[in-house]
Amino acid sequence: MKKFQPISELYPHMLHGGDYNPDQWLHMPEIIEEDMRLMKLAHVNTMSLGIFSWTQLEPEEGVYNFSYLDMMIEKIGKNGGKVLLATPTGSKPLWMARKYPEIRMVDQRGYREMTGRRHNHCYNSPIYREKTYEINRRLAQRYGNNDTVIGWHLSNEYANCRTVCYCQTCQAKFREYVKAKYKTLDNLNQSWCTAFWSHTVTDWDLIEAPSDMGEDSVHGLTLDWKRFVSDSYVDYMKSEIAAIREFSDKPVTANLMRNFTRIDYWEMAKHIDVASWDSYPYWHRDDAGIEHADVCFNNDFFRSIKGGKPFLLMESTPSMPNWHDINKLKRPGVNRLGGLQSVSQGSDSVQYFQWRMARGNVEKFHGAVVNHEGSENSRVFREVASLGETLEKLDAIVGCPVESDAAVFYSAENQWALADAQGFNRHNKKHLETIVRHYKQFLDRGINTDIVGYESDFSKYKVVIAPMLYSVSDELIDKIEQYVANGGTFITTYISGMVDKNDLCYLGGFPAGKLKDVFGLWNEEIDSLYPNDSNKVEFGGKEYKAIDYCELLHARGAKVLGSYKEDFYAGMPAVLENSYGKGKAYYIAFRDTGDFLTDFYEGIVAESGLKSSFNGTLAEGVVARSRTDGEFDYVFLLNYRNEERTVNTSAVYTDMETGETRTGEIKLCPFGSIVMKIKK
Ligand code: GLA
Ligand code: ZN
Repeated sequence: MKKFQPISELYPHMLHGGDYNPDQWLHMPEIIEEDMRLMKLAHVNTMSLGIFSWTQLEPEEGVYNFSYLDMMIEKIGKNGGKVLLATPTGSKPLWMARKYPEIRMVDQRGYREMTGRRHNHCYNSPIYREKTYEINRRLAQRYGNNDTVIGWHLSNEYANCRTVCYCQTCQAKFREYVKAKYKTLDNLNQSWCTAFWSHTVTDWDLIEAPSDMGEDSVHGLTLDWKRFVSDSYVDYMKSEIAAIREFSDKPVTANLMRNFTRIDYWEMAKHIDVASWDSYPYWHRDDAGIEHADVCFNNDFFRSIKGGKPFLLMESTPSMPNWHDINKLKRPGVNRLGGLQSVSQGSDSVQYFQWRMARGNVEKFHGAVVNHEGSENSRVFREVASLGETLEKLDAIVGCPVESDAAVFYSAENQWALADAQGFNRHNKKHLETIVRHYKQFLDRGINTDIVGYESDFSKYKVVIAPMLYSVSDELIDKIEQYVANGGTFITTYISGMVDKNDLCYLGGFPAGKLKDVFGLWNEEIDSLYPNDSNKVEFGGKEYKAIDYCELLHARGAKVLGSYKEDFYAGMPAVLENSYGKGKAYYIAFRDTGDFLTDFYEGIVAESGLKSSFNGTLAEGVVARSRTDGEFDYVFLLNYRNEERTVNTSAVYTDMETGETRTGEIKLCPFGSIVMKIKK
C-alpha cells in the first residue's frame, strides 16, 4: 500500500497540541505570553483555535472584529506553531439567539431552547445557515492562505446536544425529504407498512416527525427521520465547507465522536478531507480490556470511513475529563499509551482538550496541559512534553497506511434499525458491545483490522465479521454472496439478515433471501434468555455457556460445528460452517461469555492465514498494531497492564526513540510502549 500525502503539505509532521481558547484570557496578556513559552517546552506544535469564538469575532450583528485571531495566529506562527482554524458555529452568540429565536432548537415536546449552551442551534434554519456562511467566508478570506493555518476545524462535535431539532422548519423539510424519496403516497404507505394501527398517510401534510408524545411505532418513519436528521447535519456541514471553499482549499475536518449514532459518519466522511475524533475513555475502569478495545475499534472506524487515510486524534485529555461520573487520573504512562495507540492505528496527531485549564464554568476542572498553577512543573505537563519528543521522532510514519486483511462490519444504519426493534432483549441488545467483543479477538492477536459499512469493498479482506447484522439491503446480500463465492470468509451471528432498508421483515425465512444458501441454514426462532438463564453449547469437544440469545436453526447444507445441550432445542445446531463457492460462511447462533469466541477465532485465524505484523509472542494485556510505508513496518507494542510485561520477537528492529537495533526479549514497563521499525 502506498503512503498517503501528509494531512498538510505545509507541515508533514505528527501534530501535537490541542484546543486553545485564548479568548478566555485576553484580559490577562501575560498568560498568553507565558503560553508561547510553555508551548515550546511542551513540544506541542498545532493549536485548534477559535472553536467557540463567534461573539469575539462578531460582537454585534454584521460588525466583525478579527483582531484577536490576527494576533493569535501571528503569535503562534512566530513561535513555530501551526493552527487548525475553527469555524465558530458550535456555539451561537447570545445576541443572535435572542434576536432570532428560530435558530434555537425545539425539542420533541415543542419546547424551544433558551439562548445559552452550545450545539443547540437548528441546523436547518435559513438564518443560522446564512450567518454561518458569512462568518466562515470571512474567516476563509482572511486566513485561507495564511501559512500558519494548516487546515479547518469545522464547528464542533456536530449533534452533540440534548436533542435534535423538531421545529416547524425541520418538520417541513422532513416532509419534503419523504416526498422526494417515495414520490407517491401509495409507495410511502407500503414502505412504512402503515396499515398497521390505521396509520395510513392520506396526505403528505399529515407526516410528523416521530415523537414520544406522538408517533413512535412506525419503524419506516423513525428510520427515515434518523436518516433525515443525519443528512441535515451533513448538509449543514457542506454549507460550512462551501463558504470556506470560496477562498481556501486547505483540508477540512470535523471532530467526530466515539460510538455516536445521531449522524451516519460513513455519509459525513464523504465530504470532509480528513476524519478526526475526540477520545475520552474511562481509563482504568475495567481490566478485562473491553474499554481499550472499544477505543481501538473507534480508531479503526475513523480511519476506515476515509478509505484508510490517516486521521487525527483531535481531542483527548492529558489527565482526567470532568464530565464522567468519576474522573480518575490517567496513570503515569497512560497519556503516552493512549496517544501512541491512536498513532499505531493511523492517527497523524495527538491533540488534547485543552491547552490551558479554564478558570471558570463547567470545564474548569477538566484536565489540560497547563493546570491552574500555571507552570511547566507538573506531572501532566512533563508527560505531554515527553510524548511530544517521541512524536518528533516519528516523522517517517506520517501518512503511512494500516494494512489489514480482516474487517468488521459497523454502520449507524444497522444500529438505528436494531435500536427500534421491539423484541429480543428489548432494552439491552448489546449490539456495539458484541461487535467490539468480536473485534477484540483480532486486537488481542495483534491483527490489523478495518471497519466496513454497506458501501465498502469487501473483496480485499480474507475475513469479514458482521455480528448482529440485522438490517441488510439487497445490495449487501449480493455483496456478501459474491464475497464468499469468490473465496472470502464471512462470519455472522444471531439476529442477522432480518429486515430490509425500510425495516420490513424479509419473508421466506431468515436470514434474508440467498443468505440462507450462503450460510446453508434456516433460522426458525430466536429465544431470548432472562439474565439468570443459560444453555450449553458443545463445540470442538468443549462445553461453553450460552447467554442472552439462542437461535433455533436448521442446517440446510451447512456443517454443524456445535450444538445446544439443553432445553427443548438440545441437539439443534449452534455453530455452523458452510462452504459456498470458493469461500466459507460461518454462523454463530448464540451469545457466549467469552471463551467460545476465543477458541472459535483461534481456528478462523489459523485457517484463513491472518497474521500479526508483530513477529513474536504477545503477553496478556499487550496490544500490537502496525503501519507501513511499503519498505518498513512500524510496529507498536502497547502494554495496557499496570505491571511489567515481557514479550519476545525474532525480528530485528530499530527502536524509533533510541535508534538502537535489537532483537529478542522486550521488557515493557507498566503501561509501557515501544515503536519499532522493521524491514518488511
Ligand atoms: C468535547 C468538546 C470540547 C470539550 C470536551 C471536554 O469533546 O468538543 O469542547 O467540551 O468535550 O471533554
Ligand atoms: Zn429546526
